[in-house]
Amino acid sequence: MTSANSATAARPRLVLGNWKMHGNLADNARLLSQLHAVAAADGTLSARCAIGVCVPFPYLAQVAAALADSPVSWGAQDVSVHEQGAYTGEVSGTMLRDFGCRWALVGHSERRMYHGESDQLVAEKAQAALKAGLTPVVCVGETLQDREAGNTLAVIERQLAPVLALGAESLGKMVLAYEPVWAIGTGLTATPEQAQEVHSAIRVALSGLGAPQVQVLYGGSVKAANAATLFTMPDIDGALVGGASLVAEEFWRIAAAETATV
Ligand code: 13P
Repeated sequence: MTSANSATAARPRLVLGNWKMHGNLADNARLLSQLHAVAAADGTLSARCAIGVCVPFPYLAQVAAALADSPVSWGAQDVSVHEQGAYTGEVSGTMLRDFGCRWALVGHSERRMYHGESDQLVAEKAQAALKAGLTPVVCVGETLQDREAGNTLAVIERQLAPVLALGAESLGKMVLAYEPVWAIGTGLTATPEQAQEVHSAIRVALSGLGAPQVQVLYGGSVKAANAATLFTMPDIDGALVGGASLVAEEFWRIAAAETATV
């Protein structure tokens, strides 16, 4: 499959950390001050790569206070489809905005797997995030079983269908992330070519809808050691980083990874 517009239209790089359910006040304070320090030490990085962290809800205030005067933005790992009301345990987009969130991950495979989130619900969450003024980061990805059955692109297409149905204007305010489930937390990374094949298919779909500029991140065992080669792929616009985002220096080296492309 050919890649639509990738050579001509450079999209800015974005690297987001997903802390998942890790951290505590003391460890976060250390990590946040290290992030601050590496940001200060590389004053030009933020011009080359936008950086953010998506953290557990209870720590949003801590993260907001610590990163307010840094180039690092922050967000949450989920958002409710509801604006407010009797929805025990849910957190709305407007609540996230109250804490200065820029991002809301939606449809992470761990939420699809352990919380039964459907493709339709994920699209509704993306819409709720947009309505609140957040940038949804919509995650898609196939399981090993899907890949081995040759169903990778069909699964991605199915997962994305209700999101793509939201139309170009909404898509233009989103970020997508391709995270093969078999590569998450396993140390197995998709090869740059495997990732590019999926990113390219996503780009073709986005281009067909008039939204070729949407950033598409890759996630799944991204480390400083493999980031540069992933970033040389024409349709990989950055990374969604789990484990390695808990180590400030490693996270920074991913964001700063030099690619050979011009
Ligand atoms: P790892 O980088 O730990 O594989 O996690 C990827 C991920 O799920 C990010 O959302």
